Amino acid sequence: MREDKLNVLLDLRRKALEGGGIEKINKRHEKGLLTARERIDLLVDEGSFEEFDMFKTHRCHHFGMEKNKPLGDGVVTGYGTIDGRLVYLFSMDFTVLGGALSETFAEKICKVMDMAVKNGAPVIGLNDSGGARIQEGIESLAGYSDIFLRNVMTSGVVPQLSGIFGPCAGGAVYSPALTDFTVMVRNNSYMFLTGPKVVKAVTHEDVDVETLGGASVHTTRSGVAHLAAESEEQGISYLRELFSYMPQNNMEAPPRRETSDPIDREEPGLSLMIPENPNQPYDIKQLIAATVDDGQFLEIQPDFAPNLVIAFAHYGGQSVGIVANQPQHLAGVLDNDASVKGARFVRFCDAFNIPIVTFVDVPGFLPGTAQEYGGIIRNGAKLLYAYAEATVPKVTVTVRKSYGGAYCVMSSKHLRGDVNYAWPSAEIAVMAAKGAAEILFAREAKKDPERAAEIMEQGIADYSETFANPYEAASRGYVDAVIIPQRTRYRICNALGMLEGKQDSNPRKKHGNIPL
Ligand code: HXC
Repeated sequence: MREDKLNVLLDLRRKALEGGGIEKINKRHEKGLLTARERIDLLVDEGSFEEFDMFKTHRCHHFGMEKNKPLGDGVVTGYGTIDGRLVYLFSMDFTVLGGALSETFAEKICKVMDMAVKNGAPVIGLNDSGGARIQEGIESLAGYSDIFLRNVMTSGVVPQLSGIFGPCAGGAVYSPALTDFTVMVRNNSYMFLTGPKVVKAVTHEDVDVETLGGASVHTTRSGVAHLAAESEEQGISYLRELFSYMPQNNMEAPPRRETSDPIDREEPGLSLMIPENPNQPYDIKQLIAATVDDGQFLEIQPDFAPNLVIAFAHYGGQSVGIVANQPQHLAGVLDNDASVKGARFVRFCDAFNIPIVTFVDVPGFLPGTAQEYGGIIRNGAKLLYAYAEATVPKVTVTVRKSYGGAYCVMSSKHLRGDVNYAWPSAEIAVMAAKGAAEILFAREAKKDPERAAEIMEQGIADYSETFANPYEAASRGYVDAVIIPQRTRYRICNALGMLEGKQDSNPRKKHGNIPL
């Protein structure tokens, strides 16, 4: 080949690699920010990235755009591998027109999303964008809609992960919201439908970007994002870690992780974990750490509804999703946020063949007007729905309280729990003994005010003796076995192994009507 032809290609490539120009790249570096390509380099295995559409340009002729046609049009797309596994990706380049999305920018993203579905591999999007490209108008809105449609069609087919690595406004936030997990970076990434200036104009509210849509807001209050990283590097490492627990697509099993941690490792400390006083809190994460492979798990949404812990971990090399009530926060009750958090996680695991291990210590649903007005009936029903429809292996361990509606919801036998264990400390009943006695013995106590306290005390003792144990449930077969706490890891690993070939299905339907 003639050398000049090769040089044309190399020149074009050099130009494309510069994105919005060296000056803008330098400015980012001065602010400690990475470029779109540097993020890809950190995300995928070294040398594995193959780029598509490097020379694609927009077709806009308004506002002088015909004279400004950056190669690649502000988004880097292609495929690579993470730990040797194929992944499709796109990374928005803020140095090119603020990463704003045009019709052609959207076409590039749609191309990799379509390939991901056809070839059965996850999609990771690294977002850093001012939203719809204002110069384009309707074409950019059409482009967003094309992406949203693909996010929805891809949902449950291949995993979709989003990293937010800069300001993301307008359409740039709805696409991540439709994906499975969203990672943000503290003090550096924002998600909002409209920026502070529009907020001020419409509602007269003064708010800065951090307060409006920073990582803290979305990982503690709104629940929009799942993990907040301290740096871009950590954010990318979270994406890699999340990816490691997931299968390539909904037809495959998640990858196994080899471990030297024996499945029959006993943890004598577990027998002492539950305090004598049933109202005393303890940290359920210690129980999780003591039972999973190598004590390692990745907690998702740790600061949003901390009364319910959700996490990925491995048991005997098998990837699992863990759902656990956390007695250390609000005594582990189920409230609106916890219900929605758990439901979405259970549905993700079910969609991607990841077994669910549930640890139960729940006094019930949180009562009160705030919860009722917030829709606890509708939201609690989401968690119930998610567990009931899930056909993946479901292993449940009730360690202490399991009362009322929360008993039914938390992966009970009645919602097709496959293996339901209980510790000897389990209390499975309609409600706690004190509350039950106050209702059952109220009339008797009223009739005999002098002996009221004694009647109540006796009532509580009787109710506790009858129901504050796992044996009533075990006698019905609702609990398959009452297990010795220190053997919990072995029992879970064994049960998961036994359930490896599980086949279950739901009635044929277009789709159910989960109470959204
Ligand atoms: C075109 C844009 C742009 C956009 C930013 N730029 N957003 N160009 N369309 N949407 C350009 C700027 O003109 C500037 O160009 C460069 O990107 C960097 O932007 P700055 O404002 O200088 O950066 P910064 O101060 O960091 O602020 C970032 C920002 C702000 C918070 C994202 O730019 C902003 O508020 N942009 C508009 C956000 C927005 O309202 N988007 C539309 C949403 S509506 P130069 O040439 O100076 O470097 C939407 C509809 C879809 O998305 C809805 C579907 C549901």
